[in-house]
Amino acid sequence: MRSKREQWSSGIGFIMAAAGSAIGLGNLWKFPYIAGTSGGAVFLIIYIFFLVILGIPILLSEMAIGRFAGENAVDSCKKLSPKFGFVGGLGIAGAFLVLASYGVVGGWVIKYIFKSFSGSGFGTDFFADYTAQPIEPILWTFVFIAINVIIVTGGIAKGIERVSTILLPVLLIFLIGIMIYCLTLPNAAQGVRYFIVPDLAGINSLSDLSQIAINAMGQVFFSLSLGMGTLITYGSYLSKSTNLTSSTVTIVTLDTLIAVIAGFAIIPAVFSFGLEVTGGPGLIFQTLPVVFSNIKGGRFISALFFLLVLFAAVTSAISLLEVIVSWFSDKTGLSRKVSSVIAGGAAFLMCIFASLSFGVLSEATIFNMNFFDFLNFAADKIVMPIGGFFMCILVGHIWGTDAALEEISNGGKLKFRLKPLFSAAIKYIAPAMIIVIFISSFF
Ligand code: PHE
Repeated sequence: MRSKREQWSSGIGFIMAAAGSAIGLGNLWKFPYIAGTSGGAVFLIIYIFFLVILGIPILLSEMAIGRFAGENAVDSCKKLSPKFGFVGGLGIAGAFLVLASYGVVGGWVIKYIFKSFSGSGFGTDFFADYTAQPIEPILWTFVFIAINVIIVTGGIAKGIERVSTILLPVLLIFLIGIMIYCLTLPNAAQGVRYFIVPDLAGINSLSDLSQIAINAMGQVFFSLSLGMGTLITYGSYLSKSTNLTSSTVTIVTLDTLIAVIAGFAIIPAVFSFGLEVTGGPGLIFQTLPVVFSNIKGGRFISALFFLLVLFAAVTSAISLLEVIVSWFSDKTGLSRKVSSVIAGGAAFLMCIFASLSFGVLSEATIFNMNFFDFLNFAADKIVMPIGGFFMCILVGHIWGTDAALEEISNGGKLKFRLKPLFSAAIKYIAPAMIIVIFISSFF
């Protein structure tokens, strides 16, 4: 007989873990730089639109699938329809791809925490020089992956839930502190304006706008951890009495709040020193350290900031690892511990190549991208939209929104006022939008 499935110890614990998964590098690293390069406030508005119309219904659906089926991502989807196991399979593949690039960035973050304290500070070339090194970044990536393996080995309530419940409030409180500090820097108001007042001057054509839409949709998926089997897996450890709708609203609110707080901290700080917000992925690793080196107590704030980024990254990476571990241990019958070590080890191998693609392997390209960029492309632009699309088909047309709503309302015990909206979103609006954006992203 199957052993009893683990469970979260409380509804709040689940929310902390799921919000911890959502809140990650996507919020502190990607969101500010994408907002910075995609027109600031215009991006923010489109982002919120996709959040409501795609993010919330899909998040709710994934959780409902997981709790209904109570299995790993593949078996949960199979339980709804035997032919749809591949949706969970895509999620597991996607989790693996994301973990491989997450591990590399997580390693950089650990390095930056220590480096913040060193007297020499970050020179302008530090980021490029450091990431091109063959050995040291890989060692820190190993440390990052090992931290995740240890936590996941601890299990659902005692590992993932406990760590998230401690780290998430710390992240929120200190990030607000950093934001307040940054908002008091000279000229910060310019950055605030950039972030909240839409400037249509930068949008000259439909293709500019569709580029922003592509970025915004990708960011909604990434930031809410959708299409990767994460919420199916986390949902499978839920008790039947948890209110899925209010949990969803809390998770989405916290995730958006942290992204916006990060934006309000980073964008004004960068404006304050007359630096470029449109610099892309180097924003927190190249531009922000210049800010830190120019402000009083900058070393300390820098170390604190990167520590918070590490907290956010860990609570997300454990969710990626858990998707793989849950499936792998069910499939092989191996223990959680052994499965965590094997899955972490496999992810680490991929991380090695991803890390080297900033240095010795930078010339080795797949479809004109280095390996790191290829991992991100495959996860964000291929697996997430395709997984998300089929998730909508599975829930909207195969399992059926009535059955999904039965699960969401705890068998009719809870009121759910937005039934028609939810059904329309999952059946038609979300899949249509995903297809349009998916196709347009190739032109
Ligand atoms: N949501 C995480 C972030 O914003 C990343 C992530 C994606 C985690 C998919 C799990 C699954 O950083």
